[in-house]
Amino acid sequence: MAEVTLSKVVKKYDEVEAVRGIDLNIADREFVVLVGPSGCGKSTTLRMIAGLEDITGGEIMIGGDLVNDVPPKDRDIAMVFQNYALYPHMTVSENMSFGLRLKHFPKAEIKKRVDEAARILDITDLLDRKPKQLSGGQRQRVAMGRAIVRDPKVFLFDEPLSNLDAKLRVQMRTEIKKVHQKVRTTTVYVTHDQVEAMTLADRVVVMNHGTIEQVGEPNDLYHSPATRFVAGFIGSPAMNFIACGLEKSAGALKLRVPPDLVFDVPADRTKRYEPYAGKKGLLLGLRPEHLTDTRVAAEPGQQKLDVTLNVIEPMGMETIVFFTLGGVEICGRVGSKAGARSGERMSLLAHLGHMHLIDGDSGKVV
Ligand SMILES: Nc1ncnc2c1ncn2[C@@H]1O[C@H](COP(=O)(O)OP(=O)(O)OP(=O)(O)O)[C@@H](O)[C@H]1O
Ligand SMILES: [Mg+2]
Repeated sequence: MAEVTLSKVVKKYDEVEAVRGIDLNIADREFVVLVGPSGCGKSTTLRMIAGLEDITGGEIMIGGDLVNDVPPKDRDIAMVFQNYALYPHMTVSENMSFGLRLKHFPKAEIKKRVDEAARILDITDLLDRKPKQLSGGQRQRVAMGRAIVRDPKVFLFDEPLSNLDAKLRVQMRTEIKKVHQKVRTTTVYVTHDQVEAMTLADRVVVMNHGTIEQVGEPNDLYHSPATRFVAGFIGSPAMNFIACGLEKSAGALKLRVPPDLVFDVPADRTKRYEPYAGKKGLLLGLRPEHLTDTRVAAEPGQQKLDVTLNVIEPMGMETIVFFTLGGVEICGRVGSKAGARSGERMSLLAHLGHMHLIDGDSGKVV
């Protein structure tokens, strides 16, 4: 077990600066997920922790030791990749024990560790099978088993579930979480899927263009995104962004969405938002779940809004509705029995108590 610390870590490939001086502290036993769009530097960061990539600048510490110049095999880490190539001619048990056998572990110790990992992963019945006799999810479990038997200081996962179909991916996600609750090994997990990140992580690290946008517990990122990027990346369907203005009139602060919508700014926000009155380039950020039908319980900051629905998408438990506001297509979520119909008018509630105000110049949430 170990903590992992990255200080000012930089990775350059010739011209490309893939990772631009990131700082990150991962606590012992913590499950941290790096998430972000393709090319943002997630795998590069993970590979630098593993020692598979040299670092151009900065320091990486594992368990208090500087590992910048320590080769991968001496870092005491175990990695699970998207392509978890198992040896086809070996049984599950042999695949799992391969690394330990190479290191000449005693036979009894190997058996103990394989049996224990198989028990944790619920693959005891599969130990004598060959990989081709396994399903995708079972193979994925064997790949994890191979990592667990090594009892490393740190687990590194790079999109380990992306080869699986959607249903299996959700199942394996839960499995990985259960396994971590049992073995508690410090884990760094890479995915581009924000739902996977939210559901698995103790803390999520949102990356963008080789930098860290925000680090936080899943619910903190959802409720208090620091930037427009994080606000738009976390949550599905994604947050709506609507150009808006703030006006002070007769001592009250009003939110104006062109051409003709005017809302009261919720009382608890006025102080924070006041300095932005009259400023150009402001965005109102409102999640689809905060644009609902009118039958929900009263809460401060709710304001009525009549819209014409462009399209609706019934999901069973709810209906996703699309309409135009301030010149952009906006997404809301209403009850499946709220009577939403394409092309028809509908009364919605905007829950401005959950709004975010974004300063377009800095991209920061105010
Ligand atoms: N060997 C390399 N040589 C040059 N550039 C590279 C190399 N490996 C990665 N890059 C670049 O570094 C950046 C970060 O790549 P990285 O693989 O870390 O992205 P990622 O976040 O893992 O993306 P994905 O979600 O697509 O896997 C990208 O712009 C990529 O093109
Ligand atoms: Mg990658």
